[in-house]
Amino acid sequence: MNINLRVWRQANANAQGKMVSYRVEGVSEDMSFLEMLDLLNEDLTVKGEEPVAFDHDCREGICGMCGVVINGAAHGRAASPVPTTTCQLHMRSFADNATIDVEPWRAGGFPVIKDLVVDRSAFDRIIQAGGFVSINAGSAVDANAMPVNKREADRAFDAATCIGCGACVAACPNGSAMLFTSAKITHLAMLPQGQPERMLRVKNMVGQHDAEGFGGCTNIGECAAVCPKQIPLDTIGQLNRDLIASLFSQDGK
Ligand code: SF4
Ligand code: FES
Repeated sequence: MNINLRVWRQANANAQGKMVSYRVEGVSEDMSFLEMLDLLNEDLTVKGEEPVAFDHDCREGICGMCGVVINGAAHGRAASPVPTTTCQLHMRSFADNATIDVEPWRAGGFPVIKDLVVDRSAFDRIIQAGGFVSINAGSAVDANAMPVNKREADRAFDAATCIGCGACVAACPNGSAMLFTSAKITHLAMLPQGQPERMLRVKNMVGQHDAEGFGGCTNIGECAAVCPKQIPLDTIGQLNRDLIASLFSQDGK
């Protein structure tokens, strides 16, 4: 199949960007979207032109590095109804000779570094503000030494699957990172090890979220609709309940 691409090109953080058209020929429908970009870059390199910069690492849907906006959708729209990561989106999801727009995440908290690469270090700073336990949790213990009921264990595991890709931010009209932040908060709030710092954690992480320039949540739900790990919207409810509780708690300082 052959593809017509319109790709956001921006030389650096301060340069003015623009969409540039390319034709990519000989694309296999079994290629991932990133492999199709590899093909484009091989062609550009042979021609002596600057290849398109884009982020990636695992190419297995687990590291969260690869997000771009494809035809207006964070990570694009796969043929299957389940959202996926850009690296797991395959070219069979597109028609032959399709025209595809490729842009970086667009959000105040994710400034563009070059072409399709954005700076997502704001997520690291939100984690540094509280996404950890500082008690000594010891070495691995017998599974039944610290019972956690099934419902809470499942919620903790589900929330912990967030890969920090940032699609939730890119999809949100407010540029909010509440789904990401709430996934981390819910993960630790469900477990005994997360209790000592629970109130301080939510205050600090939400404070850092706001300081990074992410917008507020107004319950639109676009974030959960594009999340490749299907983090549910009710994690934001958990965050809000904990945040309100922290206002009345001594532990929230
Ligand atoms: S909540 Fe989902 S969309 Fe947002 S960073 Fe985590 S995995 Fe990505
Ligand atoms: S490259 Fe790791 S999730 Fe896509």
